[in-house]
Amino acid sequence: MNAQAQVKKLLDFIDASPSPYHVIKSIETELAAQTRAWERLYETDRWILQPGGCYYVVRDDSSIVLFVQGQKPLAEAGFKIIGAHTDSPGLRIKPNAASRTEGLLRLGVEIYGGPILATFTDRDLSLAGRIAYKNAQNQIDSTLVLFEQPLLRLPNLAIHMNRAVNEDGLKLQKQTELPLLLTVAQQQLPQVFFLELLQQQSGLDVKRILSWDLAVYDTQKGVFWGAKNEFYADSQLDNLSSCHAALQALLAEPDLQADATLVCAFFDHEEIGSGSNKGADGSFLPDILQRIGLVTGTDSEDYVRALAKSFLISADMAHAYQPNFPNAFDAEHKIMVNQGPVIKVNANHNYSSESVSVALFANWCEQAKVPYQTYSHRCDLACGSTIGPMTSAKLGIRSIDVGSPMWAMHSIRESAGVQDHQYMISVMKQFFATN
Ligand code: CO
Repeated sequence: MNAQAQVKKLLDFIDASPSPYHVIKSIETELAAQTRAWERLYETDRWILQPGGCYYVVRDDSSIVLFVQGQKPLAEAGFKIIGAHTDSPGLRIKPNAASRTEGLLRLGVEIYGGPILATFTDRDLSLAGRIAYKNAQNQIDSTLVLFEQPLLRLPNLAIHMNRAVNEDGLKLQKQTELPLLLTVAQQQLPQVFFLELLQQQSGLDVKRILSWDLAVYDTQKGVFWGAKNEFYADSQLDNLSSCHAALQALLAEPDLQADATLVCAFFDHEEIGSGSNKGADGSFLPDILQRIGLVTGTDSEDYVRALAKSFLISADMAHAYQPNFPNAFDAEHKIMVNQGPVIKVNANHNYSSESVSVALFANWCEQAKVPYQTYSHRCDLACGSTIGPMTSAKLGIRSIDVGSPMWAMHSIRESAGVQDHQYMISVMKQFFATN
């Protein structure tokens, strides 16, 4: 598949995944379309694993671990893991969301992670996520909900009322200026109107709806742009581009017959620090790896040997050079779009890369004939972080932080290079294929 076709698949994947819950659904849809069977395992069941078998485990609907059981015992071949995250920064709907103000109904939101808030103004916004409800048997169940039409908007203030906006930038007061416009005031109480809206979209009776996790998303679809269509733009490139690349690498070689157990771990809650039962700083991945060890009869010493043989690629997007803002970048670490995967290095270990893991990754790039670049953040700016350091620390395994270059990280409309997606898939395939 050429780079353009691969990115088209990525854009379709992102557009079908407006919340972390929908990311898991999109992955399951892709797994179901494979010729090879992917078996879903449940943490509450007992497991049986076969060498070469393809399995996945979902925790709380928005984090997933996929793995292909290796041909060799764990202690001999270890795990090859690619980690990424399913969530993106943005706005989340508050529990008692709806309120009436003058003649309008608005929805109150909380800020999730660190979005560029100004980019949420004047967009065709809508809602997606999960609803928890009481089913016909009076048991608690949950379902996904997705409003496809633009439902919400955060209209900007006209420049005639905000004369300094182009000098001072757009500053939004987080409590009072972020509620989203939903409709003109209705007969019903605001909360009742909102519940009825959820009922219409989900088919669930209002009386059965108990709570929800709803994300605000941008309904605009992904596009190619640039004189030669060499760039693409969409929401959530951070970090669904990395999830998609890793998934393609895992699915690309159905007959890989890899010695090692190949793992993709995609976590929710990275943008808020990963500290949850399904976040990268929680027990999810260690639990699954340990479980694979137990089920395959690996004793405690051999499990530790397996971890010592293992490697983690933490994949998250990187900051591409933007020539309009030269002073934001270290002059010797300008990352260019469409010039290959970025190795992220930070002496304070906000990134988990060290010289040996960097050398290993550089070698896989060379073997895959993929160019690569190295990034270091300006010393006078705070560096971001990833799931790499905490995952590596928790498991005690060697790790590297890499990512594709992109512009406007945490904007609701991010962009990146078409060629880089293909490069990332190629080097990830090489990582999985190298025994
Ligand atoms: Co990220």
